[in-house]
Amino acid sequence: MEYFEYRNGTLVAEDVTVSKIVDEIGTPFYCYSATTIENHFLDLKNALAGLPATICYAIKANSNIAVIKTLADMGAGADVVSSGELTRALKAGIPAKKIVFSGVGKTSEELAHALKEDILQINIESEPELNELNKIASAMNKKIEVALRINPDIDANTHDKISTGRSEDKFGIEWTRIKDVISLAQKLDNVKIVGLAMHIGSQLTKLDPFREAFIRLETLVKELRLEGYEISRLDLGGGLGISYDGLPTPTPAEYGKIVKAVFKSLNCDLIFEPGRFIVGNSGILVTQVIYVKQGATRRFLILDAAMNDLMRPCLYDAKHSIVSLKEPKDGDNLERVDVVGPVCETGDTFATEIDLPATVSGDFLAIRSAGAYGAVMSSTYNSRSLIPEVMVKGNNFSVIRQRITPEIMINYENFPEWYT
Ligand code: LLP
Repeated sequence: MEYFEYRNGTLVAEDVTVSKIVDEIGTPFYCYSATTIENHFLDLKNALAGLPATICYAIKANSNIAVIKTLADMGAGADVVSSGELTRALKAGIPAKKIVFSGVGKTSEELAHALKEDILQINIESEPELNELNKIASAMNKKIEVALRINPDIDANTHDKISTGRSEDKFGIEWTRIKDVISLAQKLDNVKIVGLAMHIGSQLTKLDPFREAFIRLETLVKELRLEGYEISRLDLGGGLGISYDGLPTPTPAEYGKIVKAVFKSLNCDLIFEPGRFIVGNSGILVTQVIYVKQGATRRFLILDAAMNDLMRPCLYDAKHSIVSLKEPKDGDNLERVDVVGPVCETGDTFATEIDLPATVSGDFLAIRSAGAYGAVMSSTYNSRSLIPEVMVKGNNFSVIRQRITPEIMINYENFPEWYT
């Protein structure tokens, strides 16, 4: 359930009229519904009930500390991929013993940070990384639990740029070589291999690739156990897709059913790393139409939000549904438009040839499903501000990140001393 709907002819986020936030802080801004985040977390938690499961929210999807705290308060752990994310997770109240550190290229400093904080687990993606971790842990006189991330060579059937489980992808250790790597790991004194990890990609809208990959992992665990290796923990990654267009996507219950069918009898602790499923449909990007421009063949709605605020359409051809803050009425005159930003690139386009109720300059729109991989991927291209983030809960709202203006950013720049 998502808490964005029309009430009295206008879009509300939970019990807050979105245009009230517009009046207070101006556009563009991201707006998140805390209750939606909580509900999505609970949906997944319920779907996995009965399993020894820890949900480690993938912070990369939305790393605002208020979002992380909302999930920390629900009992979530965190999946982090950098020192910065580790710092955020701890600051937002995620216990260190519920944090796993993933990523294909963790630096020595990042590994040392994870060791210093005594986090639950580091997911290792190569032998050089394993050796480096052992070296640093030994110097710090620590021993850390490790899962080896396998690359199962399975196509997640998602966008090429967010597919991570094929043999040609940079992630994980080729699944056929895992025994060699485990036997190497056992000779190291400062790492303890507790299990395996896997993440085959993001925005999966079919369950078959999950099933196939899970079965591969299960077979591997059985083989390793036969050879005497102790495998007590499996990290199944994230990836569950969401609906960007209202069409149905797999439910957490269907996903949970597959997990149970494959893993229940293995008696392993399970870790899940969902990102998008929890926050994706919990956020919108609110924007104003600056101009309506009739081109030779297309009609353009030119917004005050741009590709630097939400990269997904440009990077992955993602199609986010776009709605007006004013409730559309039956019999509204529909216009076929392209919805674009003001940045000097044709790729700065949110939607092409969609039908929207007639829109004039000054109207407000909401780009939906923008809670995941929105604000976190934004940039200051064209010297634009990083836009505010707002969280709504019931009838309250709070600005959870201020607008970061070019004036602030210029303060971090200087002329070289030879010009002064
Ligand atoms: N675990 C690992 C190791 C990951 O690499 C990722 C996402 C996740 C968990 C969370 O996946 P999710 O549940 O959110 O699908 N920027 C892209 C998505 C990149 C995903 C990267 N890894 C987008 O906007 O679609």
